[in-house]
Amino acid sequence: MIKVITYGTYDLLHQGHINLLRRAKELGDYLIVGVTSDSFDRGRGKLNVRNNVLERVEAVKATGYADEVIIEDYLGQKIDDIQKYDVDIFAIGSDWEGKFDYLNEYCKVVYLPRTEGISSTMLRAESQDVFRIGVIGSGRIAHRFLPETKVVNGAEVVAVLNPEKEKAEAFAKMHGLEAFTEFEDFIQKVDAVYIASPHLSHYDYAKRSLQAGKHVLCEIPFVLSKEQALELYRLAEEKNLVLMEASKTAYCPAFGHIVTLVKSGIIGDVVDVKASLSKMVPPPTRELDAAQAGGAMNEHGPLTLMAIIKLLGIDWKDVSFHTKIENGVDIYTKGVINYPHATSSFTLGIGVKTEGNLVISGTKGYIYVPAPWWLTDFFEVRYEDQTKNKKYFYSYDGEGLRYEIQEWLSMIVNDRRSCYKLRRRESVAITEIIEKYRNGENVTEI
Ligand code: CTP
Repeated sequence: MIKVITYGTYDLLHQGHINLLRRAKELGDYLIVGVTSDSFDRGRGKLNVRNNVLERVEAVKATGYADEVIIEDYLGQKIDDIQKYDVDIFAIGSDWEGKFDYLNEYCKVVYLPRTEGISSTMLRAESQDVFRIGVIGSGRIAHRFLPETKVVNGAEVVAVLNPEKEKAEAFAKMHGLEAFTEFEDFIQKVDAVYIASPHLSHYDYAKRSLQAGKHVLCEIPFVLSKEQALELYRLAEEKNLVLMEASKTAYCPAFGHIVTLVKSGIIGDVVDVKASLSKMVPPPTRELDAAQAGGAMNEHGPLTLMAIIKLLGIDWKDVSFHTKIENGVDIYTKGVINYPHATSSFTLGIGVKTEGNLVISGTKGYIYVPAPWWLTDFFEVRYEDQTKNKKYFYSYDGEGLRYEIQEWLSMIVNDRRSCYKLRRRESVAITEIIEKYRNGENVTEI
């Protein structure tokens, strides 16, 4: 009996897939089809897959060509499968010509003709509305945002707003956009808005964008008071719009897995979370400018507090800060947040350097995420008995903004107003702690 194996995602199953499966089956007597798991696809940067793995397996089965369907879940699995299932022929579409020659050592490799003019990517693009995104602000993060939108289906940045004409035009020229200096003109041209303007303008731009009926993705720090955060989320709810805080780490695959592992009890009860983030910045820069709400707390508080709130919740009982101020901004702030059954601390620096790691300690073990933990692609779960330690590796593609953009658009398309990766109430809790610091509550200067 000749055994053939082939692999694919098989999203939105189409005629190209059916032809390929038929041709593969004709090569032998028994066809095994490997369908990629959702996490494997996400891990290799395929963020747009529409059907989940069960739907894709069902679609492959329904073609009638597969004698057996298996799940492909890790890099290198093909070699294992070929040996495990005693496979004679590995078949794949000609778009992969040459890429799988290394499997010749284990079985015969056949590249089958690909059906022209159709692909899952095409179908996804055709079936999805394209959202015209406008960017407010043209600074460093806005520049990083642009290339990230290119890898998310349905996202097209069309306009930039900056009241300073030269800056708006230079940014627009660089990225092929339309430049605006007036909000009223800009907002008419877009369906959704990414706010990457100076911190103190976030609230106003977010409010005006929501009032104009546009979805909003707002950079961190989202806003600087709890009342403002609540008001904006209420407004978004009333207008049936998506308002999302761009806390990038919350949406990246590795961090999401840390949260689910912790919640499933892998390190026992969590007793302590320590999160640090320090990035030295040379003057003159917005981060060191008090008039622009610079300072370590405003800059780095949102991500570190996000980690603490995600892991320990929003029901903290007290918070205190120690801070070092220079020229009106905190160059270093250390905070302690206590919960009824746990404690947590964060250290933030823009003029003091410290190790930027994340340590989550529990009654059975701890999770160690090395610096820079906020660009999470690796972490380790550690126990007293070191033989039980486990390392986890992930990809953190590009600038990492693609994950939040993908989530934002998915919320818009699927009519979801809240996202479990960062709940609205969690976003409000983060803002509230930053506000307490700004109001000088329990703040000791050092
Ligand atoms: N395939 C094919 N003809 C097409 C599309 C896909 O023969 N028009 C083959 C691929 O070469 C592969 C298998 O179908 O052997 C599964 O491919 P998959 O990546 O799932 O399909 P695509 O439509 O190419 O998906 P995407 O656009 O997401 O890359």
